[in-house]
This record gives sequence, structure tokens and C-alpha cells, in this order.
Amino acid sequence: MKTFSTIQLKLLHLLQDRKCHSGQQLGKILGVSRTSIWKHICLLINLGIPIKRLPQSGYQLERPFIPLDAAQIGESMGIELHVFSEIDSTNRYLKTLAPTTQSIACCAETQTAGRGRFGRPWISPFGENIYLSYRQQLTCSLSQLSGLSLVASLAVHSCLQPMISSPLQIKWPNDLYWQHKKLAGILIEMLVEENGCIQLIIGVGINVNSVAARDRLISKPYCSLYSISEQYFDRNVLIGRLLQQITQDIDTFMQKGFPAFRNQWQELDYLFGKNITVQQLNQQYQGQASGVDDAGQLLLKDEAGLMHRLTSGDASISL
Ligand code: BTN
Repeated sequence: MKTFSTIQLKLLHLLQDRKCHSGQQLGKILGVSRTSIWKHICLLINLGIPIKRLPQSGYQLERPFIPLDAAQIGESMGIELHVFSEIDSTNRYLKTLAPTTQSIACCAETQTAGRGRFGRPWISPFGENIYLSYRQQLTCSLSQLSGLSLVASLAVHSCLQPMISSPLQIKWPNDLYWQHKKLAGILIEMLVEENGCIQLIIGVGINVNSVAARDRLISKPYCSLYSISEQYFDRNVLIGRLLQQITQDIDTFMQKGFPAFRNQWQELDYLFGKNITVQQLNQQYQGQASGVDDAGQLLLKDEAGLMHRLTSGDASISL
């Protein structure tokens, strides 16, 4: 695990205007020597931050880069926030922390072992995207949480849709899609404590500022907020909103259950009416996607007209 030092964060803030700053000028503002500035700049460049060294002139950001910063994300929601420049996986990190009633969020500039659903890797290039996990203790039974993973994707949808002008959809159970390309994925994990409480961990990966030509994220079609809108996004603002929306939607879910979200889900259902295949560990289902029930289970009508209710699986559109 690595974090930015205070001086590195200050340096990055000073460079955010994308103008050229001399080492001397930066050193004077930050109260350190020119050599110290040079060393910090080298470390930042090695991390992958696009800082250009202009001979005889100074340092300049080649393209926008706003670092993750707890102070910018805001801690007003009573959530403890852990921000890293590098971590193996934000989900894994939250799992290692001792159980507590305190809600905790963790985000990082890069993950060296980011994980997706079904044990797939989640490629996490430095400084581009959102890798965020949120942990909350719940006092209920596991069966009461059916549908919660769909609610998490609705929360992510509510935050991202206002950022772009064309519609985003959700592929059951919790992938966000834009024009048949994946924009975001969610990995939910639940740990049952000795006292019966549940530690819920919601891991969210969103392609934010990735540029297709620069990064090869995954072999499947994907997009980013940047590729959709050609705008650079401040991830701190998005993370603050995401945490607010997720906590609010979990509260509603705990009070009213999935039926309170079902209509909203049906409107955004990417698979509805399509012929799909759902792969489970030892079984495969084929049929027409027909929405979800009050528990968030996928309704799949097979060729014989039989309706299956699926609680999990990897869904893909049949060719
Ligand atoms: C998927 O679509 O397969 C789910 C991807 C979830 C990725 C996120 S990134 C933050 C958190 N940490 C992880 O290791 N995975 C999740």
C-alpha cells in the first residue's frame, strides 16, 4: 500500500493549472529545495503521472490530472475514508480490517490485483479511473439482502447518468453499459461475523478518464466517461456523490426492500426482451430475459416457455 505524501499532493495541486512551473518557484511555495522538488517530481512521473520536464523552464502537466484526495472527497457522511496511491485491491483491503460499526470507504489511484466477478482481473491503470470500495455493517439475515447488488448498480447509475447526455443501462445483475460497451462493474462481497452481523462490501470500478488509444483495459468492448463525453472528470467529486447515493439507497433498501427499486430497474434493464445465455458454475440457461422479480432475481423464459428465476450468473447476449 502506498499513499501520496503531503508535499506530493501540494505539488499536484500547484500543477493543476497546466502551466509551466519552475523548480525554484515550486520550492519557494512549498518551503523545500529545488532538488527536493525534482526528486518528488521524478517519483510522481515514475508512478505514471503525465508531468513533462521542460529544460531550463520547469514542470508542466501534459494532460489534466487531479489526484484522489480525501479532503476533496469530503468526509461529511460519517464514513471513514482511506485513500491510497497504490493498493492490491480495495475490496480485499476492507476485508482485512477488523469488524466495526463504523462505515469505511477505500479508494486508490491503481490496484495491482484488482478483482472482478467470477475471479476475473479488473485492470486498474494509474490515475485514470475510480476503484472504490465501501464497507457497512448490517444487522439482518443474508436472505434479506437479495436484490442489494442491483440496488448498488442503480446508485452508480444515478450518479453517472447526469454526467452524460445519452442513456446508460444496467446489465443484470450490476454492470453499467453505454451503447453495448461496459462502463462500470460492481463486486459485492458479504462477510458474516461471529455475532451474526454482516459486513457488506461494495466494490465499484468505473472507467472515468481512460482513453481507449492509451489504455487497453479489457478484451471486451468497454467505454469510459471520457470516451463518451470527451470531458475530463474530477474523480473526487464523483466518489463523494457515489458514497452519498450508495448509503442513501442502502437505507431505503433496508427499510423497503427491492420492490421500492423494481420499477426504476425495469426502465434501465439492458437485457430485457433479448435472447441470452446465463452461465452458472455448473449449469447454463438459455432463453429470453423477462425482467426481474421482487427479490431481484432474473426472470428467464426458456424455449419451452418455462420461467426460471436466477439469483446469480454471468449473462451474455446470445448470437
Ligand atoms: C466486474 O464487473 O467484474 C466487477 C468489477 C469490480 C471492480 C472493483 S474496482 C474496486 C473494487 N476492488 C476490486 O478489487 N474490485 C472492485
